[in-house]
Amino acid sequence: MVEAIQVRAIVATITMRTKRPIPLIGLGVYKSEPGPTTKNAVLEALRLGYRHIDTASIYNNEADVGDAIGESGLDRSEVFVTTKLWNDDHGYDNTLYAFDRSLEQLGLDYVDLYLIHWPVPDQRLDTWRALERLTLDGRVRDIGVSNYMTQHLTEVLEQSAVVPAVNQIELSPYNYRSRLGTVQTCERNDIVVEAYSPLTKGRKLDDPVLTKLGAPHGKTPAQVLIRWAVQKGFVVLPKSITAGRIAENFDVFDFELSDDDMERLDGLDEALATGWDPSTAP
Ligand SMILES: NC(=O)c1ccc[n+]([C@@H]2O[C@H](COP(=O)([O-])OP(=O)(O)OC[C@H]3O[C@@H](n4cnc5c(N)ncnc54)[C@H](OP(=O)(O)O)[C@@H]3O)[C@@H](O)[C@H]2O)c1
Repeated sequence: MVEAIQVRAIVATITMRTKRPIPLIGLGVYKSEPGPTTKNAVLEALRLGYRHIDTASIYNNEADVGDAIGESGLDRSEVFVTTKLWNDDHGYDNTLYAFDRSLEQLGLDYVDLYLIHWPVPDQRLDTWRALERLTLDGRVRDIGVSNYMTQHLTEVLEQSAVVPAVNQIELSPYNYRSRLGTVQTCERNDIVVEAYSPLTKGRKLDDPVLTKLGAPHGKTPAQVLIRWAVQKGFVVLPKSITAGRIAENFDVFDFELSDDDMERLDGLDEALATGWDPSTAP
């Protein structure tokens, strides 16, 4: 099981199976336009206390993430950076080249977490071996997967020496029960679950249930969704390029949802997939 959440002065973290901490809330930068938009969003997040940024080579904004970290004045070791290998780059050698490109784009010496973005069939075990290799020279601290459902996790668990530290999947109350099997597979194997699209890409933020549960605490629907993920023990990756929302999404540590509230939220499941659904992927 994932170890207990520790709340520090600024940064709440979860401890991964490798014993390294991962900050509980990360700024997502998918669909965050390359250039000043992304750079300013990351700078603002770091200024507010975020210490975790989630990018990917396909987002085309790794360079802006790196620039912002450089300009933030923070020590590199204070910021947890994730990037991801895109689908066209699978295979052992391709993965090593793709990682070099990502690191160069980021302008960093290492990344904290490197993920396989999607469980592309055929080469993903070779790809995983390349990720294992990348941890040996210290340019990647931890490795993991994304969009892996139980069938994909079983494959890597049965055929590899190294267990993924993390599995990043779409998770919110609107798809939690339908993803529970995958979540439980992760928990049984001490794999940290990261919740992406935790705000449903904005689609459910007008749900009156969220408004009602947030009202007694003076919290918004977005904050209710992020708090739900935190209480489930997930790392949560809300995306925003808007300063006020970046602040709002981080302001979730001064209230608690009751067991009844959590159950009410779990009951909202409608197997929502706001992007491609990996559940039937071979
Ligand atoms: N591994 C994968 O395959 C995968 C797939 C999807 C996402 N992700 C990761 O997860 C992150 C988050 O997911 P996501 O980008 O799909 O969507 P999301 O975080 O669920 O929602 C982002 C949307 O909500 C809006 N928003 C943010 N905070 C808000 C608030 N407090 N009130 C109202 N609206 C708010 C944002 O608008 P503004 O930006 O305009 O403020 C944006 O339109 C991504 O950025 C990425 O890092 C990973």
